[in-house]
Amino acid sequence: MNSSSSSQNSEDLDKTKLPAHVAIIMDGNGRWAKKHLLSRIKGHEKGAEAVRTVVRACRELGIAYLTLYAFSTENWQRPQKEVAALMTLLTKFLKSEQKELAAKDIRLAAIGQIERLPANVQQVLHETMELTRSNSALQLNLALSYGSRTEIVRMARQIAKEAKSEQLDPDDINAEIVASHLYTKDMPDPDLLIRTSGEMRISNFLLWQIAYAEIYVTPTYWPDFGKDEFVEILKNYQQRERRFGQV
Ligand code: IPE
Ligand code: IPE
Ligand code: MG
Repeated sequence: MNSSSSSQNSEDLDKTKLPAHVAIIMDGNGRWAKKHLLSRIKGHEKGAEAVRTVVRACRELGIAYLTLYAFSTENWQRPQKEVAALMTLLTKFLKSEQKELAAKDIRLAAIGQIERLPANVQQVLHETMELTRSNSALQLNLALSYGSRTEIVRMARQIAKEAKSEQLDPDDINAEIVASHLYTKDMPDPDLLIRTSGEMRISNFLLWQIAYAEIYVTPTYWPDFGKDEFVEILKNYQQRERRFGQV
């Protein structure tokens, strides 16, 4: 598709009906690399370019929250070399994007067990979050060492402690209180969940938060994902009727 048809492409979008929060399971870097006879690590490097493209697209279109599943609690069990390469890539990515995030009014946030990340990654992450903390056009959330079950266990522990110390009456626990103890406490729930590379599963991502998200699975491998396909998915989302259990 050439650039003029791609800009026309996004002109057909209804800007009043955009999802406030898009969450993406960025899958398929390894399969992309295999298809191109490259190392998995090259696949992750190419995947980082797709991240840049989608962040820019969200900013241009006016989407308020983008949450990207970048590294799961289960991903720690991958070969040590791959984990180390992913951490290096994350550090490089943050350093190279700092200027653009700051200039484009994008706020960086992280969800997950940030304390488990290597010290140098934590440092650049905190530096980037600090640098962009008062930005407000788009919030980019990176899910890092993120697992939904761990997040839910952590919430249960915190609530139990508050109940035990009588800061909270167990009879007052409701959905709002649960949500306010999750990493995502200051964000709306995702309206749209996209998974690339065809797998029809959630893989421990935002289990509580996606209760009423619209789901879109594309066979495209993450490194091949681009703005045109993203816009097509947004159009598909706009044609859906969200009923939230009602008639
Ligand atoms: C997604 O791509 C990136 C991460 C999970 C870090 P994969 O590395 O899972 O790619 P596939 O699924 O093996 O193709
Ligand atoms: C999900 O992808 C995690 C991320 C995209 C970071 P995985 O490749 O780890 O998930 P499974 O193994 O297909 O469930
Ligand atoms: Mg995968």
